[in-house]
Amino acid sequence: MPRLENIGCLATCTNPSGQDDIGLIRDAALVWKDGIVRWVGSAAALPPEYAEEPAWDAGGRLVIPGLIDAHTHLAFGGWRAGEFSDRVRGRSYLEIAAAGGGIASTVRATRALDEETLLARARRFLSEMVALGVTTVEAKSGYGLDLETELRLLRVYRRLDEAGPARVVATCLAAHVVPPEWAGDRVGYVDLVVDEILPAVAERGLADFVDVFVENSAFSADEARRICARGRGLGLRPKLHVDQLSGGGGAELAAELGAVSADHLESVSEAGIAALAEAGVVAVTLPLATLYLDQAPPPARALIDAGVAVAVATDFNPGTAPSYHLPFAMTLACVRQRMTPAEVLKGATRYAARAVGLEGTVGSLERGAAADFALIDAPDVEHWLYHLRPNACVAAVIGGEIRHGKQEGDGVP
Ligand code: NIG
Ligand code: FE
Repeated sequence: MPRLENIGCLATCTNPSGQDDIGLIRDAALVWKDGIVRWVGSAAALPPEYAEEPAWDAGGRLVIPGLIDAHTHLAFGGWRAGEFSDRVRGRSYLEIAAAGGGIASTVRATRALDEETLLARARRFLSEMVALGVTTVEAKSGYGLDLETELRLLRVYRRLDEAGPARVVATCLAAHVVPPEWAGDRVGYVDLVVDEILPAVAERGLADFVDVFVENSAFSADEARRICARGRGLGLRPKLHVDQLSGGGGAELAAELGAVSADHLESVSEAGIAALAEAGVVAVTLPLATLYLDQAPPPARALIDAGVAVAVATDFNPGTAPSYHLPFAMTLACVRQRMTPAEVLKGATRYAARAVGLEGTVGSLERGAAADFALIDAPDVEHWLYHLRPNACVAAVIGGEIRHGKQEGDGVP
């Protein structure tokens, strides 16, 4: 049975006693077989039956559950670097969108690409994410906004999940914005989502979740209620983009709809925080989007104090978060959201798994969980997130298979 030893510090992220409890084991060992963790604990307590074969040497480094990026818009056409410069010069995100840029410009570029091209682009992004220690990625459609292109994006995600390089959980975000051709008939577009796109997605088993961007510039609470009710009826659990650009009861809506997660939350209200806690909705914070939009961060401390599980993800997309560097987002969450490195790690592993409906399967290292882990060149979690490097991940393992890292000469599996 494959075994990793000489682990300086291993974070199991199993212990459910709170955001900062990451179940640390010093001088640990990890045993897996057929892609599943068989044993994890202190090396001194390793049962003799697991000690027979030679172990791989972790070199005294840190081992964490494979990171989970619980919110991305992974597949899209084109980029929007020009808008980035415009925003730096003072044009707002909403001004750019109102002039036909923003999401609408990515929709045009995405519709122009065929499935193979979208797949190749997304696969390249995903490979670089795996190299950073990310092993599961939630990926949203939402740059198609017509039946054909939404299905194309979701097929890309299914193919990536099947063939690698990482696990992919798909979300249908056909309700991202009302596309330009429906501008005069928003009810007609919501009808299309509810009557055609969601049923077609569900029938083909192409998504696990339905998402709605709830915002003045996107969809109203009532439209979100209708779309999520339909999604739920089709077996798609709701997730929501809420309280990002303006506060308007978005978190309360997520709680009312029993959403799995409420994402963004820069403008969440006190009542919204209480509602999320009461309903057990995961708060997915997105420090890169907050940074690129130069916003005040979401109140992560108040969320944690209220008992809300706070996840940390990238929001990778060509507009508000053109980066999939999850460890950088994690360091930002420490600095700007005042979360400790341990709290942030739990937010990018176990609570991220909760946000994508996979808690206990991925995002924690415990007997029976997937053997998804990353070997980090740092003595502990604190040091890793404090000393920001281009990449401190030495190896990434998914289902017991090495997807990133050297096999020889580096003492890693
Ligand atoms: O999560 N908030 C809505 N959607 C994206 C932005 C998408 C874009 O600008 O292309 C987000 O920030
Ligand atoms: Fe997003």
